[in-house]
Amino acid sequence: MSQASQPAQQPVILTGDRPTGPLHLGHYVGSLRSRVELQHTHRQHVLLADTQAMTDNAHDPDKVRRNVLEVALDYLAVGIDPALTTIAVQSHLPALAELTLLYLNFVTVARLERNPTIKEEIHARGFGRDIPAGFLCYPVAQAADITGFKAHVVPVGEDQAPLIEQTNEIVRRINRQVGAELLPEAQALIPEMGRLPGIDGKAKMSKSLGNSIPLGSSADDIRNAVKMMYTDPNHLKVSDPGTVEGNVVFTYLDVFDPRKEEVEALKDHYRRGGLGDMVIKRRLEEVLQNLLAPIRERRAELAAQPDYVFGILREGTRKSADITQATLDEVRRALGTFSFDKA
Ligand code: TRP
Repeated sequence: MSQASQPAQQPVILTGDRPTGPLHLGHYVGSLRSRVELQHTHRQHVLLADTQAMTDNAHDPDKVRRNVLEVALDYLAVGIDPALTTIAVQSHLPALAELTLLYLNFVTVARLERNPTIKEEIHARGFGRDIPAGFLCYPVAQAADITGFKAHVVPVGEDQAPLIEQTNEIVRRINRQVGAELLPEAQALIPEMGRLPGIDGKAKMSKSLGNSIPLGSSADDIRNAVKMMYTDPNHLKVSDPGTVEGNVVFTYLDVFDPRKEEVEALKDHYRRGGLGDMVIKRRLEEVLQNLLAPIRERRAELAAQPDYVFGILREGTRKSADITQATLDEVRRALGTFSFDKA
């Protein structure tokens, strides 16, 4: 086997999720699906970002704690393979907290306040002027996550791109100060397919908007979600011409139904009139049931063995703790912070 295919040569990926609820189809399309692919060509690390989740959930640590296992179940159920991907619990990687403290000195408050992601999220969460300092600073912690693993590639949604930019600013400042390419710059990997809309047609599928299909959904949940799905509100009679654009059933068929030509033919028929919502919904339901049934079954099997899942997390966290501690040691040495080992 050639050296090039050895894991040590593979580019490093870091990605993660805030464990604030079980993951849903939007996560599957936006990130989980590609992680299952990328783990074969990259050295992939995934973070259960419970510390970051606390930055806007400090009032409800219980929720964050419980969802660490839920999200881990989602990862394993979709095929993220712990033999190929390390899965770590962020709060148990103390080196990341220390890197964060160091990096906070390489970024200004004004820069943090200008971060478009943060501005948008502060608005969305209604913090007003009462912004938790931890929240304002989480981009710095995320820079610690990314550089702690020396990640080259960070798959994230488009909304997170400014965080990668901010990470790279910190990287450049530190590299300039120490006069070496100590930390690699990271590249955001943004999925081509935009966001999956919610079943109500809103731009984003989200648990808090109540328009999501969780990966562990029962067959009945899936049936009901499809039944409630937003179509074309002006398509009242089967014979009426219908609109495909913005029609969630067609959006989902485009994403999930591999029989593209048949879907195109259905779109033409729907536009002409004479094709009822029931028909397209029945088709989509079958596609989603087939996609989600094996994920649900695997998830239930794993949920019945929490010790096994915790074992996987413990092992992934141990490996990740070593990697991130090694980076912290290097950064400290390069910056020349105090050490008892030095003369
Ligand atoms: N901010 C990410 C989210 O909200 C989660 C996250 C934490 C992350 N650390 C990360 C993503 C490092 C990529 C890399 O989904």
